[in-house]
Amino acid sequence: PGWIAPLVGRLSKLGPPGELAAALVTRLVGTGAARGGPEIPQAVGSISAVVGQAFFVPLYDLFLTYGGIFRLNFGPKSFLIVSDPGIAKHILRENSKAYSKGILAEILEFVMGTGLIPADGEVWRVRRRAIVPALHQKYVTAMIGLFGEASDRLCQKLDKAASDGEDVEMESLFSRLTLDVIGKAVFNYDFDSLSYDNGIVEAVYVTLREAEMRSTSPIPTWEIPIWKDISPRQKKVNEALKLINTTLDELIAICKRLVEQEDLQFHEEYMNEQDPSILHFLLASGDDVSSKQLRDDLMTMLIAGHETSAAVLTWTFYLLSKYPKVMAKLQDEVDSILGDGLPTIEDVKKLKYTTRVINESLRLYPQPPVLIRRSLEDDMLGGYPIGRGEDIFISVWNLHHCPKHWDDAEVFNPERWPLDGPNPNEINQNFSYLPFGGGPRKCVGDMFATFETVVATAMLVKRFDFQMAPGAPPQYDRLI
Ligand code: HEM
Repeated sequence: PGWIAPLVGRLSKLGPPGELAAALVTRLVGTGAARGGPEIPQAVGSISAVVGQAFFVPLYDLFLTYGGIFRLNFGPKSFLIVSDPGIAKHILRENSKAYSKGILAEILEFVMGTGLIPADGEVWRVRRRAIVPALHQKYVTAMIGLFGEASDRLCQKLDKAASDGEDVEMESLFSRLTLDVIGKAVFNYDFDSLSYDNGIVEAVYVTLREAEMRSTSPIPTWEIPIWKDISPRQKKVNEALKLINTTLDELIAICKRLVEQEDLQFHEEYMNEQDPSILHFLLASGDDVSSKQLRDDLMTMLIAGHETSAAVLTWTFYLLSKYPKVMAKLQDEVDSILGDGLPTIEDVKKLKYTTRVINESLRLYPQPPVLIRRSLEDDMLGGYPIGRGEDIFISVWNLHHCPKHWDDAEVFNPERWPLDGPNPNEINQNFSYLPFGGGPRKCVGDMFATFETVVATAMLVKRFDFQMAPGAPPQYDRLI
């Protein structure tokens, strides 16, 4: 059917060809019928007008037809699509040990190695235990100053554009804002990408674009022997990775010297005021780790904390431009709380409506829209038996847009969570809302990212009004 072509194109890119044989075996032995249990519904039929859309969009229509768990087959490949909060909770929290990152780890290996996002098993356990303490309360509070300074630099850039009456492309500016923030926050490096481009900024973008291409390209050209060594694109990627790795090695060496020279006692909320970075904490803690693993973890945090926050800010301002009443209410709150200086932690805690705006933006446009897992053993999902080796997509997009769970699911309504209530999270929303995932693999930067996006949003709307530029390309949206 017509819809399958783009879907096959997009999904098959998610696995290298070497997996085909394994996937075939999975199909032959892994279905419920073969195991004597009920069979998971299989998606069939046609969906029109999916060409040019991201793959999670047609998955939403399939979810409405087939329900909270269904199987998607094409050729020898097969995926389980999960959109049910109970099943998501089972995979992510209750039986998380029985699932790995699967395809995700394979695609991201070239850039993240065995960093915290793709890592599984013992490597993950050890690294998670080392890294989580680095993001303690005092560190996140110290970061508020960094968020404010970077947002102020962006405001100055926008001041100029506003006085010249120019349109600005906010997506790339947000990407630079969050790159500048995460560089300082993770390894005390000032990319200063809001001010100018340099080789290392370019190298980060080459790498990010490659990661994106690898997760959406139909043919894994980067695996073709010989071609992978002579293709100009792959050469550029390898050079970019080399430059980033050399820079990281230098930063690690500088930081090691700093740690040796300081006479600060290491303790739970240890933080060097001049260099509060996560790298500094890790080295000072005596973290016993190979330099390759440390680089993998730093690179992972750089990527994890950069494009996600940038995308959240971009979608938030898109939504605000579509909902002027929300923008007006937001500006009222910000005007009543922020003074002339940079926001403090006390201010941020009072910015409750701003926080709801970010919460709701994350509901409508979750980053990433799907969580990827692979079953490591047989299990039961929603009453269906599944086998080992199943590739699973938990559609956060479907959970967040489910018409049964959310009133007016497609409406941007920050008021859906009362200001005096708790901040919504996967626990109090019983896995119907999981912008930062859930269970042991939950995002380590959730507080960091929430404060970062709240500070940037508040400072920007205090200074400027935003509207879509005339002639801006149309966006995908189902907003009412
Ligand atoms: C994991 C979202 C910002 C570091 C995750 C996961 C999600 C997520 C959904 C779970 C992935 C999975 O279960 O497969 C976000 C969003 C962010 C954000 C929406 C911004 C708005 C950050 C920042 C950092 C960070 C700023 C670093 C300071 C990580 C790491 C993991 C992770 C290291 C892997 C944790 C593990 O597997 O143990 N993030 N993240 N994230 N995030 Fe974030």
